[in-house]
Amino acid sequence: MTSVKTVGVIGAGIMGSGIAQVVAQAGYAVVVREAEQRFVDKARQAIDGRLQRAVEKGRMTVEEKVTLLDRIMWTITLEELRGADLIIEAISEDLPLKQDLFRTLDRLCPPSTIFVSNTSSISIMALASVTGRADRFAGLHFFNPVPLMKLVEVVRSIRTSAETFRTVSDFATSLGKEPVAAKDHCGFIVNRLLVPYLLDGIRALEAGVASAADIDKAMRLGCNHPMGPLELADFVGLDTTYAIANIMFEEYREARYAPPPLLKTMVIAGYHGRKSGRGFYDYSGSTPHATDLGL
Ligand code: CAA
Repeated sequence: MTSVKTVGVIGAGIMGSGIAQVVAQAGYAVVVREAEQRFVDKARQAIDGRLQRAVEKGRMTVEEKVTLLDRIMWTITLEELRGADLIIEAISEDLPLKQDLFRTLDRLCPPSTIFVSNTSSISIMALASVTGRADRFAGLHFFNPVPLMKLVEVVRSIRTSAETFRTVSDFATSLGKEPVAAKDHCGFIVNRLLVPYLLDGIRALEAGVASAADIDKAMRLGCNHPMGPLELADFVGLDTTYAIANIMFEEYREARYAPPPLLKTMVIAGYHGRKSGRGFYDYSGSTPHATDLGL
């Protein structure tokens, strides 16, 4: 049974920085790699800000915050991940990019290192196939915001060993998360159900059924969802939603996964949702307001 002590995290965007935080919070040593120093600085600030808030709210002492931050080592080189027992990849949803990364890691790391991907829609087998360790390769799909969301999908490809699957599931539990087991089917469990729903929200707006604000309000108050579909698409990122929908459509060829033209146009326009300051809503002011899309 592999014992996990040091964890590598590659990519420190919204997902990667959240993952690094919860892994350090659970007591592991973490090595986080970003491609450039400015992304390292941004992720560091994001984690620091979240922990500072926890201190202010009395959920954590300053000493605990310092100890936690000391567990995280930041780097812009992959070589520093050599000593990790488990490496979590959380870079963008791009198959060739992820495959290139895993090819390099496979050469760099000892055979015992377990690789997992936080992909939400790319085939785990397609990633594992470029390495010589498909048996020690699994999916570990976290949800945004990682520090708050309880669920983690643990994904087993047809070549993931039972031992690796157990180690990765136990690791997810050790983070205080609730694992669910999913097979390596594009979108796993959550995105298989969530993506068509988000796209339907966009189609409803496109068809003029109601305003963005009323579509969201309807689902928040009518179904007790914390966010409506358009707010949630903005939160996930419209570029990410578009990329996932395309991958799922490519895989299943079912109309329900086909991204609506409005989503494509918004991505081309640079409206990537909350992270870019604008999507279905404009986030530049103190309270978001619906973007004028000329519909
Ligand atoms: N990161 C960290 N903490 C956050 C946060 C974030 N992005 N957003 C809010 N919080 C914290 C706030 O700081 C606040 O903490 P305090 O107790 O310290 O005040 C707490 O959460 C509650 O915040 P708010 O009152 O502002 O907001 P809320 O009650 O509406 O909760 C939310 C925010 C948890 C994000 C909630 O709106 C929610 O659950 N939304 C749905 C999220 C969701 O569905 N995520 C899954 C997306 S799909 C995905 O990730 C997978 C994929 O592949 C696409």
